[in-house]
Amino acid sequence: MELKDIEQLYLHRQSCRAFDPDRPVSDELLTEICRLALLAPSACNSQPWKLLAVTGEKTKELAAGVQDLGMNKFASDAPAFVVVLEGTGNLSATVGSRFKNTDFLHNDIGIMTAHLVLAADAAGLSTCILGWRSEKKLREILGLPEKVRIPHIVAVGYAAEGYEIRKKKRKPLEDTFSLIR
Ligand SMILES: Cc1cc2nc3c(=O)[nH]c(=O)nc-3n(C[C@H](O)[C@H](O)[C@H](O)COP(=O)(O)O)c2cc1C
Repeated sequence: MELKDIEQLYLHRQSCRAFDPDRPVSDELLTEICRLALLAPSACNSQPWKLLAVTGEKTKELAAGVQDLGMNKFASDAPAFVVVLEGTGNLSATVGSRFKNTDFLHNDIGIMTAHLVLAADAAGLSTCILGWRSEKKLREILGLPEKVRIPHIVAVGYAAEGYEIRKKKRKPLEDTFSLIR
């Protein structure tokens, strides 16, 4: 693989806000993108996460968990979701976080989610990470105990016909990157 292939993938991956509701995602493909996401690195290889793939009828219910105040209406058309559950870090990562005053756990979860959305894109799927969610509602719908944290949830599906790839809007390189010799 060449760098330009990675660039193509990064430019092609975008937050999808128009899914084709009539095109389901197979259980196999959903499982495969989760398996690949779980190859992501984590501090002290702590892997402080769990993924819950939801498809079929349950997705309709689940969409309500990300639509408070009229947000994320498009989520009703997503044929699947991957729910990202917070796990516990191992001892080294937990102690390391405290000593280095760093939140390894949430960094790890973010990195893993990035792997997930990129793997999904490479598989021809579209995604949207949804941080605007009601953890309480999601827990109720999924029958999860109150102590389970849900940092975010990812809508997964096929983009609606004609949904175009947007040009990336990013801060100028000189504002976000410097090279020191
Ligand atoms: C942690 C996180 C939470 C997000 N939550 C939402 C959300 O609730 N609804 C939404 O439409 N987009 C959400 N997004 C998508 C961002 O708006 C999007 O990544 C950003 O505007 C850049 O656009 P792009 O992903 O298409 O490149 C979220 C992204 C991240 C990383």
